[in-house]
Amino acid sequence: MSEELKQLIESNGLTYHIETFGCQMNVHESEKIAGVLENLGYKPSESKAAADLLLFNTCCVREHAEARLSGHIGALKDHKADKAYGVLAVCGCMMQQKDAAHKLMRRFPFVDMVFGTNSIHKLDSLLEDVLLRGQRAYCVEEDISIVEDIPVRRDGGPCAFVNIIYGCNNFCTYCIVPYVRGRERSRRADDIIDEIKRLCDEGVSEVTLLGQNVNSYGNDLVESISFPRLLRRIDAETNIRRIRFMTSHPKDMADELIACYGDLPSLCEHIHLPVQSGSDNVLRRMNRLYTRAHYLGLIDKLRARVPDIAITTDIIVGFPGETENDFEDTLSLVSEVQFDAAFTFAYSKRKLTKAADMPDQIDKAVKSERLARLNALVAELQRRSISAYRGRDVEVLTEGISERDANMVVGRTRTAKTVHFPGDASDIGRFINVHIDEVLTHTLRGKRL
Ligand code: SAH
Ligand code: SF4
Ligand code: F3S
Repeated sequence: MSEELKQLIESNGLTYHIETFGCQMNVHESEKIAGVLENLGYKPSESKAAADLLLFNTCCVREHAEARLSGHIGALKDHKADKAYGVLAVCGCMMQQKDAAHKLMRRFPFVDMVFGTNSIHKLDSLLEDVLLRGQRAYCVEEDISIVEDIPVRRDGGPCAFVNIIYGCNNFCTYCIVPYVRGRERSRRADDIIDEIKRLCDEGVSEVTLLGQNVNSYGNDLVESISFPRLLRRIDAETNIRRIRFMTSHPKDMADELIACYGDLPSLCEHIHLPVQSGSDNVLRRMNRLYTRAHYLGLIDKLRARVPDIAITTDIIVGFPGETENDFEDTLSLVSEVQFDAAFTFAYSKRKLTKAADMPDQIDKAVKSERLARLNALVAELQRRSISAYRGRDVEVLTEGISERDANMVVGRTRTAKTVHFPGDASDIGRFINVHIDEVLTHTLRGKRL
């Protein structure tokens, strides 16, 4: 690491601010970027406007992201005017597409630094180019080996993200992620366990294991391990109290994974299981490699093991060729499963993907109308699922002070329901039993027991 760079950053008291878009993967990568920056002497900025280094960590999973990013960056033309060492940087998935990265550099000459998702460990040398040599820095690489030991700057709360597998091999026909994140690479189980042990020592009680498809975990490793076996090892070898994971692909969710529920005390009674559509025709053209019946079978098996399990999902409406009947199949699946919550999206055409070239792209108006109908149903189910908590006693892991009321704290149940109850900062990080007496639109309120 360059001493000269460090000295410049420290002696000028330089600060940074990161704006993160996209999924948990990106949120966690921003924590790594912050870790690298703080090792170099940067301090978090009080505000976006005051930050010497302003960084956008981008997502490209849907189209409007690009337009929005251009809007954000266009508005920052004068950001560096009052800063001797101002740096504007853009990174993340959108930059991993070389044409988008080049376009951005051409369009916004005041952007100093662009890097992709595989280059976080090179951040110091990129900053040297900008701050010591006065050059623009660009680094978008295909090299996708795993780099361990990147420092992580977490928010200090009791919940933490842990990567277990990077990349995706599935090529769902609508999805850009495999093109920007490359092929599947699993971390070694020992590295994952060591990280979780360290997190426990630092006071973390809940980890969310991250991967585009955690069910592929271990397929690319020499050691013989699968995702359910990894869960069993984490449960047995660390003191972590709660484990969650995102995301499990329904096509290869093993019975051994279902068997972990109710068997591993640390595995939370919640699963995010993206269904995408309730129509077999659409699922086939999405290349999801499962049927509606298979998905419903998984739900039955999960509920047979853990009747109270919370089930959440992702759904796309308006995939090319989706008929009114196909869409109604989605609505009926949603009613049948009674999801606790769902992230819903209008299909968005992504360059490179197969679906972008499929015939019968759906009109924007039809997509919006279907999305509105689906959202109304999802809202209704969400209300129903949360209402069932009235009068129950639940274990809450306290995550922080409520934003609306300084005399209240907020945390989540094992089933990922948000609960507010009276408390103060000394409760953060503690497990507290709460009696639920009020159900709001998306959250619960209660009294300590
Ligand atoms: N790997 C995860 C999902 C990552 S993307 C998984 O397979 O579950 C998160 C969600 O964005 C997807 O589940 C999907 O519902 C949505 N999505 C992805 N590509 C999209 C597109 N082109 N248009 C609309 N929604 C999309
Ligand atoms: Fe995209 Fe499908 Fe991979 Fe998820 S599993 S990241 S939806 S290609
Ligand atoms: Fe995530 Fe968006 Fe990248 S959803 S993996 S940040 S394209």
